[in-house]
Amino acid sequence: MVSKAKRDVLSSASDGAKNAACNSAPDGAPRRAPDGAPRSVSQSDAAGSQTVDMRVSLAGIELANPLTVASGTFASGREYADVWHRIAQNEPGLIRNRRFPGLDCMGALTTKAVSLAPWSGNATPRIAETASGMLNSIGLQNPGVEAFCERDLAWLATQNVPVIVNIAGHSLDEYVAVIDRLERESVPSAYELNISCPNVDAGGMAFGTDAHLAAELVGRCRRATTRPLIVKLTPNVGSIADIAKAVRFAGADALSLINTVLGMSIDARARRTILARGFGGLSGPAIKPIALYKVYECHEAVDLPLIGMGGVSSATDVVEFMLAGASVVAIGSANFSDSLALPRILDDLEDYCKEQGIHEVKSLVGALR
Ligand SMILES: Cc1cc2nc3c(=O)[nH]c(=O)nc-3n(C[C@H](O)[C@H](O)[C@H](O)COP(=O)(O)O)c2cc1C
Repeated sequence: MVSKAKRDVLSSASDGAKNAACNSAPDGAPRRAPDGAPRSVSQSDAAGSQTVDMRVSLAGIELANPLTVASGTFASGREYADVWHRIAQNEPGLIRNRRFPGLDCMGALTTKAVSLAPWSGNATPRIAETASGMLNSIGLQNPGVEAFCERDLAWLATQNVPVIVNIAGHSLDEYVAVIDRLERESVPSAYELNISCPNVDAGGMAFGTDAHLAAELVGRCRRATTRPLIVKLTPNVGSIADIAKAVRFAGADALSLINTVLGMSIDARARRTILARGFGGLSGPAIKPIALYKVYECHEAVDLPLIGMGGVSSATDVVEFMLAGASVVAIGSANFSDSLALPRILDDLEDYCKEQGIHEVKSLVGALR
């Protein structure tokens, strides 16, 4: 999966790209109105065919559709935008409706984690392929909030897509300091607090496995901003519902789940762990049943909108997460094996709704029989 990811994103624009859709209306008009508000979206290409309202709302933000990308699997989108652009130029036949897919085809774009100072991440190797998934121990490598604002946010301001900024820190003060800096920028629509990364020694998952600490962190961040606070939870706990309730009462507006599942791979011949750090976070199809159950558990436990993720690679997966209670669904590791995963899934999701006679995609949320 990983070597294909590199091929896909860095060089070949065609590999794995099938049936991609875009965010242009059939007449070529952008899906988002000039003021940035999402339009009621219809991708029907035949006169008289059923239209589907793909809009969902998340903690007060109206999104054009329920799809986003999982933090850390799409950087800030620039590389993918380049690949999509090259596909449109060189192999337009791969893109359904012959429209150019821009980043505005997604409901929201979630960035890689950003911390106060630059972080260099963990020693390599820090990626390992596994059956039905991958292990990573990247360690939240990022250039720090100042460079992120200058380089990534400035570019994202031109992309006409709601931006969720994922935030990491070694301490409570660092999370608040990152928010303080981001508050000076107009681009972020919401913040996603990563209290669930298993790959850093201080902070990260340590905050997300202790309900009191998690609540304290969210309370501090709550006082620093009026923007929506999405709290990203780890599955590596006894009761995710207890953590969900704690952060709900501390002021979270939404939850994002799940981050990766702790795991390890070993090289039998070398008798060494494959990841330099010894262990890492498992993602991809292997974790989907775990993620679905955590979404279901949190949907039962708290009255907050949920972003569901973990092994999503098809429209059917998206529907399953929505039925379990997610309002928004994130595509993560699937981006590495199919750089057009998100626009393809968006297209297929709309087809599913048409087949099922569903007029509003939001009617799927929590609609498990
Ligand atoms: C290479 C890699 C980097 C990641 N970086 C982050 C990150 O910076 N912040 C975060 O909250 N989650 C991060 N994650 C976790 C994903 O956002 C997501 O929660 C997880 O991979 C499960 O989704 P998936 O199975 O669809 O990949 C990362 C995952 C991967 C594979």
